[in-house]
Amino acid sequence: MEIRVRRADPRGARADALVVPLAKGAGVPRLARGVDAAAGGAIEAALASGDFSGSTGEVQTLPGNGLAATRLVLVGLGEERDVDAESFRRVGAAAVRATRERKGTRAAILAPPRRRLTPGDAGHALAEGAILGSYRFDKYRTLDEAPAEVEAVDLLAADDGAAAGLRAGARTGTIVAESTNFARDLANEPGSVHTPVWLADRARRLARETGLRARIFDERELEKRNMGGILAVGRGSANPPRLIVLEHNAPRRGARRRRTVAIVGKGITFDSGGISIKPAASMDAMKMDMSGGAAVIGAMRAVALLNLPLHVVGIVPAAQNSPGGGAYLPGDVIRTASGTTIEVLNTDAEGRIVLADGLYHAQGFKPEAIVDLATLTGACVIALGSECAGLMGNDEKLQEKIRSASDRARERVWPLPLWEEHVQAVKSHIADVKNTAGREAGAITAGAFLSHFVGDVPWAHLDIAGNEATSKDGPYGVKGATGFGVRLLVELLRQWR
Ligand code: BES
Ligand code: MN
Ligand code: ZN
Repeated sequence: MEIRVRRADPRGARADALVVPLAKGAGVPRLARGVDAAAGGAIEAALASGDFSGSTGEVQTLPGNGLAATRLVLVGLGEERDVDAESFRRVGAAAVRATRERKGTRAAILAPPRRRLTPGDAGHALAEGAILGSYRFDKYRTLDEAPAEVEAVDLLAADDGAAAGLRAGARTGTIVAESTNFARDLANEPGSVHTPVWLADRARRLARETGLRARIFDERELEKRNMGGILAVGRGSANPPRLIVLEHNAPRRGARRRRTVAIVGKGITFDSGGISIKPAASMDAMKMDMSGGAAVIGAMRAVALLNLPLHVVGIVPAAQNSPGGGAYLPGDVIRTASGTTIEVLNTDAEGRIVLADGLYHAQGFKPEAIVDLATLTGACVIALGSECAGLMGNDEKLQEKIRSASDRARERVWPLPLWEEHVQAVKSHIADVKNTAGREAGAITAGAFLSHFVGDVPWAHLDIAGNEATSKDGPYGVKGATGFGVRLLVELLRQWR
């Protein structure tokens, strides 16, 4: 889908839906008055009759009489004082939905200036909403006829200045949203398809297409680097593990070294629980246990296309957790790349084990910060639900940055404590650490376990176990993988200072 910015009379906009966003009680904005007049006062009439009030999510479709567009679609923004980027993401998605429902292929959105939103931010949000909202994963569906695709969304600007801002914003929003959809595509694939080797191949191809550097460690390389965590978890599966490393602006000899940030994502391509096997109900959802890794790969795509002035390292330890004949066992002791040993009490607490090697590898790049994303614990879902991710770490400033990026991207996080007591709780009697510390504070003790592998690098951990998938369509979310984390990570890196 193409997002275009037009500086043209909206009355003449050829589209299947001409979308006019309207705030509650604010009347017809100046930019829309010509449209309203040409349509015989249809907008005024809808407002006056109370047929349309402008509440968030409200959509009213009117015939396009008097306009070049086939129909006029009013979309509610809610109270004017609350209008923000999120309101515009929803407008972008509503425009696509209204167009698609009528089998149209082309939408136009009136983008009048707003007090609290620059044209750049508005363009970013509209493009993001339109592209996120149009996502579908239907490659395996053959029985139903494929529904129409919206091909283009035109953003209609008030003046040349606004058009320039909208255009720049729309470019960024397009890259971020397409990268999120890319992450959704990775995660929605069945577990038997998106194996560690497959994921590594996708990462390699992405690197070729976008100029990233890719390094993939196979079993031999993992052995050589003593990555006993990734190897142990992968041992029960016929699909061997990999460590995927993507770099943007990898330092070149003689060139000035840029500031480095590392992002690490859990890449369990299917989590059966291993020998500590999970119950059958909902086990299918565990194909998405690589969603942290998918978010990291998606974010690397965006970072490359936006050409951010940073050295960004994306690391995905990928393995399938299966109870095969060679599977690692409860009671085993694993030696990780850092030398720190892990006592395995439950093979279903596997994410933290592969992350131990992934985080240690990240330290080698001497980053200013490490941020990891992982579908790590059911306990986090119980504690925080699926509206936000659990945020932990060892550095207040980094957490503050993440919270602010999270607000802007509207991928919400909420802090959990991570104290010395929790770090003590994961110590083992026969090894350095143990991979479970009982049911109490399960999300936090998982975070505390990870803290053993980041040294003194500023680090933040996002437990996204509640966020990686959704069971229902949302304002611009689509049932299935959400791509959670791509927007947040890109926003964090875009504003890095
Ligand atoms: N991948 C799961 C966590 C998970 C649960 C993600 C629900 C998404 C939805 C993780 O590997 C796991 O199994 N964690 C265990 C840890 C326990 C054995 C200490 C859990 O949460 O039960
Ligand atoms: Mn598990
Ligand atoms: Zn898992």
